[in-house]
Amino acid sequence: MFENTTIEDCRLLQLPNVEMERGNVTAINNGLDVPFETKRIYFLFDVPHKSIRGGHAHKNLHQLVVAMGGAFSIELFDGVNRKVVRLDQPDQGLLIVPGIWRVLNQFSSCSTCFVLASEEYEEDDYIRDESVFASLKGQTK
Ligand code: TYD
Repeated sequence: MFENTTIEDCRLLQLPNVEMERGNVTAINNGLDVPFETKRIYFLFDVPHKSIRGGHAHKNLHQLVVAMGGAFSIELFDGVNRKVVRLDQPDQGLLIVPGIWRVLNQFSSCSTCFVLASEEYEEDDYIRDESVFASLKGQTK
């Protein structure tokens, strides 16, 4: 239930990385290297440094967010606690569970935000009003 999740459920995953002199390879195997089946992949690119993305929570969606290039920050909020994670390694992913408000900002130049998502795009899955989000989360606390 998205009402009960906390920022502690959102963790950095180290992705398998094969290091070679001629360059590295990281593979993400569906359902094996991430704790959900991936139904959708999307990415943000050409994001201006001052841009603020996100600003919403999801009811059912699990995501793995990877800084495929460059760096950016993700602010997480569960209705009570907040934390900021800076992503800057292409072989690390931040797992974001349902019921977490997130804001993405501080994009470096040429950064790419790569996302694996457990569900197809569905606008009804979004909570886009932070006060509505906070009151939904508050009902269980
Ligand atoms: P949104 O998720 O609100 O953006 P942000 O990256 O800031 O969190 O999506 C922005 C727009 O892109 C919105 O009109 C819906 C569209 N969109 C899709 O059509 N498919 C997708 O998979 C995603 C993530 C967004």
